[in-house]
Amino acid sequence: MNDTMNTLITRRSVRSYKKEQITTEELDAVLAAGIWAPTGMNRQHTKLVAVTDPETVSLLSKMNAAVMGTANDPFYGAPCVVIVFGDSNVYTYVEDGSLAMGNMMNAAHAVGLGSCWIHRAKEMFESEEGKALMAEWGIPESYKGVGNCILGYIDAPAAERPRIEGRTLII
Ligand SMILES: Cc1cc2nc3c(=O)[nH]c(=O)nc-3n(C[C@H](O)[C@H](O)[C@H](O)COP(=O)(O)O)c2cc1C
Repeated sequence: MNDTMNTLITRRSVRSYKKEQITTEELDAVLAAGIWAPTGMNRQHTKLVAVTDPETVSLLSKMNAAVMGTANDPFYGAPCVVIVFGDSNVYTYVEDGSLAMGNMMNAAHAVGLGSCWIHRAKEMFESEEGKALMAEWGIPESYKGVGNCILGYIDAPAAERPRIEGRTLII
């Protein structure tokens, strides 16, 4: 099978990570994949904020857990998270941000990293704490969180997720 097809089919959501930080080269590759994702009308508005410092990763994890009302770590111990933001003034911001997320998860797998989409980025960055972080990072107020892409070295293999048959139709 072609390498790209193999990557697309064998990527899985990883929910167990080693503490060791990923390399700058690996992170750069994942971010490049996110930036090269297409955007509606080529507006290229999405912004990707990569967080590697343990204190901020832990803060973000707690903010995400608070949205769910749990105390568990929703980032599964991953040492790095990339938050995808999209400009809510752009009609296709959710789709554009989601494509960046997909590209990044596939790129992560291609370079040997584990990844997983962690939801609730919208709610996280609608909170006062989230808005303060956005201001600190220079993200305009019209932006909304689309997704959190956690990244790290895989500690335990991901669960298999066989696909349900009959979801394609060729006319
Ligand atoms: C929009 C979206 C939101 C998701 N949110 C979470 C999440 O908050 N936590 C989590 O552990 N997995 C989350 N996932 C991962 C899905 O559970 C996972 O993709 C699905 O079970 C299929 O598994 P696979 O990615 O290994 O093929 C999310 C996936 C998507 C596409």
